Amino acid sequence: MRDEIAFVPTMGALHAGHLELIKRAGELSSQVVVSIFVNPLQFENPDDLAKYPRNLEEDTEKALAAGATRVWAPLYEEVYPGEIEQISAGLIGELFEGRHRVGHFDGMLTVVHRLFEVVKPTYAIFGEKDFQQLFIVKKWVRENNLPVQIISVPTVRDADGLALSSRNVRLSKSERESALVINRALSTGSREEMLATLEAEPYFKLDYAEVIDEESFEIATPQTEFKRGIVAGWINGVRLLDNMAMGSNR
Ligand code: PAF
Repeated sequence: MRDEIAFVPTMGALHAGHLELIKRAGELSSQVVVSIFVNPLQFENPDDLAKYPRNLEEDTEKALAAGATRVWAPLYEEVYPGEIEQISAGLIGELFEGRHRVGHFDGMLTVVHRLFEVVKPTYAIFGEKDFQQLFIVKKWVRENNLPVQIISVPTVRDADGLALSSRNVRLSKSERESALVINRALSTGSREEMLATLEAEPYFKLDYAEVIDEESFEIATPQTEFKRGIVAGWINGVRLLDNMAMGSNR
């Protein structure tokens, strides 16, 4: 039997949220592989891809300090050596985040498929911060009977409540203040209150705010047991997203 590998796929720009994923990986296996690869296929906006922070040396140090036993930063050609086998995220990949970032989830799943092919992990660790991504990866693994267990880790927040994200470094002090509206909105408990809170912040440009059923990712109904608020939008050209358990699920 091959040794078990706990795998944390990342695009670098590691922050405390990633380090939690790496620590969780270390609890699952003595072999912790962290990949660092900014996957062009999941960026629909070339400007966002160009601006994505890259600092491999610092990231490698952080990953090793958090418990990675191997940091793998492949070149594009290693990940995509020939014709790319495109993986479709299906209908769910076109909703919410997928409606605003066309092709994003197909690109994400295509790279996750390739990374899994190379790393062959027993466990793969994903953050709840990208809740739709987590849902899509879990669904794809389940439907394809892949021999990997998807482990999720709760979102890490700064003391002010802002969910950690590699994009936060692009926010000025006052933009960051404005960004806190997302956390306030998600803490309200209903879609109407979420929308009212978000609309009251002049610097926030809304993409979507919904309450979904965690188990199906459909819009929640009064009967839904596990509800989750999901929000995405922009502060001065920086895209932010977050989610939170709602109602009795909180
Ligand atoms: O969540 C991310 O950082 C990326 O979507 C992932 C899973 C590393 C794939 O590029």
